[in-house]
Amino acid sequence: MQNFVYHNPTRLVFGKGEIAKLGALIEKDRKIMLIFGGGSVKQNGVYEQVKAALKDRDAIEFWGVEPNPKIETLRKAIALAKEQKIDLFLAVGGGSVLDGTKLIAAGAVYEGDAWEIVLKGYADRSADYASVMTLSATGSEMNAGAVISRGETDEKFAFFSVKYPVFSILDPQTTYSIPSDQLANGLSDIFVHVLEQYMTSMGQSRLMDRWAEGIMQTIAEIAPKVLDNANDYKTRSDYMLSATLALNGMIAMGVTQDWTTHMIGHELTALTDIAHGATLAVIYPATLSVLRESKKDKILQYADRVWRINGESQNEIICKAIAATESFFRSLGLKTRLFEYGVGEGIIDKIVNRFEERKTILGENGDIDAAVVKKILLACK
Ligand code: NZQ
Ligand code: ZN
Repeated sequence: MQNFVYHNPTRLVFGKGEIAKLGALIEKDRKIMLIFGGGSVKQNGVYEQVKAALKDRDAIEFWGVEPNPKIETLRKAIALAKEQKIDLFLAVGGGSVLDGTKLIAAGAVYEGDAWEIVLKGYADRSADYASVMTLSATGSEMNAGAVISRGETDEKFAFFSVKYPVFSILDPQTTYSIPSDQLANGLSDIFVHVLEQYMTSMGQSRLMDRWAEGIMQTIAEIAPKVLDNANDYKTRSDYMLSATLALNGMIAMGVTQDWTTHMIGHELTALTDIAHGATLAVIYPATLSVLRESKKDKILQYADRVWRINGESQNEIICKAIAATESFFRSLGLKTRLFEYGVGEGIIDKIVNRFEERKTILGENGDIDAAVVKKILLACK
């Protein structure tokens, strides 16, 4: 294991009816901005619960943070926050609303244009922020990362805030209203978050491996129920907590990571608007296929422990493991090939050119350059 420091200060408040605790979680003298997406919270009753819990509190509302939150929208919230001297930002929605809120909270105490924070990749100052999560996928509720898009240039980049959410409230009942395509995207995102921290060199930590495998097995087991059984509280609880534990640093202690699929996926979303989790379902099987030699030992462990795959030869087991991964995404109802989205060579070339121009190097060992990215994208066709 490598040396590491683990410090995750987010207070996780989990369970039925816990939104009612909002008033107790936020100090009385706070000036609050409530931040929402496009209106799903008005249909599923979450908005009323938040308003009831915060009645008589000093709070303004900002609406319209879109999926893949855009800097053009967030700038408006930042200007309003500065004008109103907001000191606590509460995201009510999915990963996009919370990611947007992370930039709003950082932008509110930043002199320049907030896009500079995104380009720098980190915010060294931020106001406090917290969340009521209504879509489980990103793990944003218990990490300091955010991914922000810029509409004018079709760009999408991640940055890390100096602050984590002060608290995040997760009531699995809020997920009952998520449409099935968003559930599928979420399950794909959770599964690939685990894989990008797991599918690296062997023998770094038995414990991290087992935790990661446990989350993947849980997601594989519950996925059909999550998709079919809208009001099953127990299943939704496991779904919700899996998303949080997949990307709150718990399975990353002391081990290497490889975020190749996510980095390619962000470009695909930026250029085509395909949803985040959906891009991963296309790219991940191809990444495994292209990197099957360097990841051989870990793929064999994954095949055995997650999918219980046997075979006559290592080659056969690896092929079956890649096929099982792709079948899992298809079982969620997701497409796994670029042509199914009508994406052809033009977009592939654009993505490869971007990586070339930026001299991006990805992978656990820093050996995935634009040429390897091209191989991966061609393998997704
Ligand atoms: O905007 P509203 O009306 O709220 O509707 C949303 C949105 O249209 C809807 N929705 C959310 N909760 C709902 C619901 N509809 C019905 N019932 C509910 N309970 O779902 C749609 C998609 O929401 P969005 O927030 O965009 O989805 P998700 O949570 O998957 O977030 C995706 C974004 O997170 C980034 C992605 O790149 C993408 O921009 N990621 C953030 C990460 C992080 N912060 O750590 C890591 C991830 O890898 C990911 O990159
Ligand atoms: Zn993701």
